Amino acid sequence: MTKWTADDVTDRTGTTVIVTGANSGLGAQVARVLAGAGARVVLACRDPGKARAVADTIVGDTEVRTLDLADLSSVRAFADGVADDVDVLINNAGVMGVPKGTTTDGFEGHFGTNHLGTFALTGLLLDRVRDRVVTVSSGLHRLGRIDDDLNWERRRYQRWLAYGQSKLANLLFAYELDRQLSAAGRSTGSVAAHPGVAATEGQRRDRSLQGKILAGGPAQSPRMGALPILYAATVPGLDGVCVGPDGLLQRRGHPTTVRTSRSSRNAELAADLWARSERLTGVRYSLARL
Ligand SMILES: NC(=O)c1ccc[n+]([C@@H]2O[C@H](COP(=O)([O-])OP(=O)(O)OC[C@H]3O[C@@H](n4cnc5c(N)ncnc54)[C@H](OP(=O)(O)O)[C@@H]3O)[C@@H](O)[C@H]2O)c1
Repeated sequence: MTKWTADDVTDRTGTTVIVTGANSGLGAQVARVLAGAGARVVLACRDPGKARAVADTIVGDTEVRTLDLADLSSVRAFADGVADDVDVLINNAGVMGVPKGTTTDGFEGHFGTNHLGTFALTGLLLDRVRDRVVTVSSGLHRLGRIDDDLNWERRRYQRWLAYGQSKLANLLFAYELDRQLSAAGRSTGSVAAHPGVAATEGQRRDRSLQGKILAGGPAQSPRMGALPILYAATVPGLDGVCVGPDGLLQRRGHPTTVRTSRSSRNAELAADLWARSERLTGVRYSLARL
């Protein structure tokens, strides 16, 4: 059987896609392919200068908008500025293995940026998303644990465990969003994706032994790493699944639906995290049955 590649992305003419973190790595590649397929692509990035530099290299219809997921006022301002419906929201942006620090709103850096920022953005935009929300997680979600200390105030800080927690939260969120959208009778879908291990800025930044061990062998190219995200964003009928690479241990390969940890499928844990995320961000989802 032939493997799915970026050439299989169908014509996107007439659609609008928001890609967070589109100025670098996987997000830039996803933006490039979707714009090349005819979509209007909004590059939602915290540094508009970097985003413009990438947009200038993309052939197609692009727009740069400022979004800092580590600052909920920036997330709100971004959402307020989205005037028209969008077809696909791709929650790609994230920090990886950064030292202990807090977001503008005082949340631990990974949890605040990768999960709470993404949760808030999606909640504020959801009524304007027509087709689907794609949320990018990681195989390292398996390191994560969701407990009472989401902001690492009582646990000894370990950055890759903090990253794992945020990526587990991304998966719990993506699956819970799918359940809530279905229960509300909405046609909008929610799909998770993970790239395996791909050689990007984020992946290279941590040169510690721990980071190298976790990366586990040679990384694939950003082009290959972007495929699961592109597949999740464009292939019909994927609601409530995670798309990742089909190779050994899901580290590399072509996109397919993949299994994720038992914790990530825990609906009770997901509902609890959802309620806490609404309280922490002040963003309440309005998913009443239509
Ligand atoms: N590469 C891998 O092997 C791998 C593996 C598993 C999962 N992932 C996931 O894939 C996604 C993309 O990562 P990548 O590998 O492409 O890394 P990357 O090259 O570092 O890209 C990350 C992007 O997120 C943006 N970002 C970080 N903090 C932000 C914030 N507060 N507000 C808005 N944007 C922010 C970055 O912006 P700046 O350029 O301004 O920092 C950058 O555009 C992440 O969610 C990551 O967890 C990657």
